[in-house]
Amino acid sequence: MISGEKVRVAVIGAGMMGAGHAACIAQSGRAQLMAVADIDLGRARELADQFGADACRDHSEMLARRDVDAVVVCTPDWAHLEVCLDAAGAGKHILVEKPLAMTVADCDAIIAAADAAGVTLMIGHILRFDPRYVAARAAVDSGEIGAVSYLYARRSNTVVQPRRFGGRTTVLHYLAVHDVDWMLWAMGEPVTRVQAMTSRKVLEDLKVDDVAFLLMQFSSGAVGCVEAGWARPEHTPFDLDADLEVVGTLGAIRVDTPNSGVLVEAQRVRRIDTTYGFRVVGRTGGALREEVEHFLECVQERRTPLIDGRQARSAVAVVTAAAESARTGQPVTPAD
Ligand SMILES: NC(=O)c1ccc[n+]([C@@H]2O[C@H](COP(=O)([O-])OP(=O)(O)OC[C@H]3O[C@@H](n4cnc5c(N)ncnc54)[C@H](O)[C@@H]3O)[C@@H](O)[C@H]2O)c1
Repeated sequence: MISGEKVRVAVIGAGMMGAGHAACIAQSGRAQLMAVADIDLGRARELADQFGADACRDHSEMLARRDVDAVVVCTPDWAHLEVCLDAAGAGKHILVEKPLAMTVADCDAIIAAADAAGVTLMIGHILRFDPRYVAARAAVDSGEIGAVSYLYARRSNTVVQPRRFGGRTTVLHYLAVHDVDWMLWAMGEPVTRVQAMTSRKVLEDLKVDDVAFLLMQFSSGAVGCVEAGWARPEHTPFDLDADLEVVGTLGAIRVDTPNSGVLVEAQRVRRIDTTYGFRVVGRTGGALREEVEHFLECVQERRTPLIDGRQARSAVAVVTAAAESARTGQPVTPAD
């Protein structure tokens, strides 16, 4: 790719997030959507056809193309490793959905492969592009609330999410990792100790936890608590319920997200997303668009992304430490 030229992008994984990313890429003045790959070829074709892109089943086939500069990896959490290693091996820039991988060792392998290939590696931690969480982080950074004493974040989905993944990822990797990354970003200091407890009743059949309560101590002594659950009933009028509170020596910050401002009361009562990916005059707007545009800018201008492999690895280190703590009942120090 010649500097400043359009980035030729392919999407791997044509599910919920793949569809959102494909729409953002197709509408961007910085990019061209070339192809969509999915192990379910019908799904790849359906998405690719919307944008006049090519479809394929095997991601290796797409990675062999010389007219693809970058890929967006939107496969499920457990299927990031192989695809990212193959993409780096083929010299493609990578935007991969969160979490970077399921283990710290897998994160290390992806980071090493991207470094060796000299490609951009960015992770889709969307809260870094959500104006509410960006503003909250800026308020911490400005010092107006003084030294942070404690942080609390809640992220809760309905059972629809875990049921889609059939027990192959965890509430820590899928949900808690968002708020853990935000807290690490806002605090700018490492976590020294993690303790967690989980409960498993609603999702017993899937053999996954309903909720994880994660406590983390930062090196300054501040304490963060993340509540991540995905067991609310399917008929809840909103899929995502999230809050944040940060309390410091001079003040506090709150983010309340469940009230998106739009409630539709028909056969089904539901809240409409007005932050992450909404359509206005035929274009997708919101945090996902900002995230994709940032990735494209970083590729074009050879800049380090706002959220790179090492930062994403720190969040995975905390959630995997939490999983171990929940299993053993002991506090755990996250991997360096
Ligand atoms: N940033 C966010 O807010 C957010 C929200 C939801 C999900 N996610 C993340 O996005 C990723 C995808 O989630 P989703 O909800 O789109 O999942 P999904 O199940 O809707 O889609 C995943 C797709 O990947 C395909 N796939 C599986 N293995 C593959 C492989 N090896 N090669 C090619 N295709 C493969 C599946 O057939 C499916 O079509 C996950 O890592 C998830 O944690 C992020």
